[in-house]
Amino acid sequence: MVIRQTTESDFEEVFSLIQSAFGNKKESDLVRRLISDNDVLINLVAESSSVILGNIVVSTINMEPDLGLFCGGIAPLSVLPDQQSSGIGSKLMKAVIKASKKMEIDALFLLGDPDYYNRFGFTVSKIKNDYSVEHFQELELNKGCLVKVKSTVKYASAFLSLGT
Ligand SMILES: CC(C)(COP(=O)(O)OP(=O)(O)OC[C@H]1O[C@@H](n2cnc3c(N)ncnc32)[C@H](O)[C@@H]1OP(=O)(O)O)[C@@H](O)C(=O)NCCC(=O)NCCS
Repeated sequence: MVIRQTTESDFEEVFSLIQSAFGNKKESDLVRRLISDNDVLINLVAESSSVILGNIVVSTINMEPDLGLFCGGIAPLSVLPDQQSSGIGSKLMKAVIKASKKMEIDALFLLGDPDYYNRFGFTVSKIKNDYSVEHFQELELNKGCLVKVKSTVKYASAFLSLGT
């Protein structure tokens, strides 16, 4: 299995993978919109024998007021239903953290089950966001950069159409 950047020719296969992972079109529509809005920072696929088994997307996060931090939001993370629980999600998470460090992203945020994401170093965040209060987590790649942050995290506008 290889982890590589998603290319334009992968898009339709990736959208149908996301739809089957979540069982509806909300998240695949979200990714379509993030791409067309040019809000995607990182987009990776896990592939084996020319079949895409998993996908992870990181999109732009802004803070209000802006503190000059470079932040990304991980969403969604998707693995084909019959390939789940075989480590693909973990490999995508590790690859995205590595790619984020390379891009000098200061911090990553996500919404998800803390029992899954704490294994990658994510902790429950105290920072306000305009999307959801539950299961909001952070990972500082630039140590200490979020300690005194009083700003509100603003997800890309595509998230507003997803609802809560
Ligand atoms: C969540 C998801 C991405 C994990 O990917 P994966 O490749 O199955 O995960 P891994 O193989 O790396 O890790 C598996 C372990 O993670 C844990 N895990 C998986 N999904 C979890 C969840 N939603 N909550 C808590 N723990 C979870 C389990 O302990 C599992 O161990 P098991 O083998 O005993 O079942 C995948 O299951 C998926 O696509 N789910 C549907 C879409 C989704 O909910 N995405 C996440 C929200 S953005």
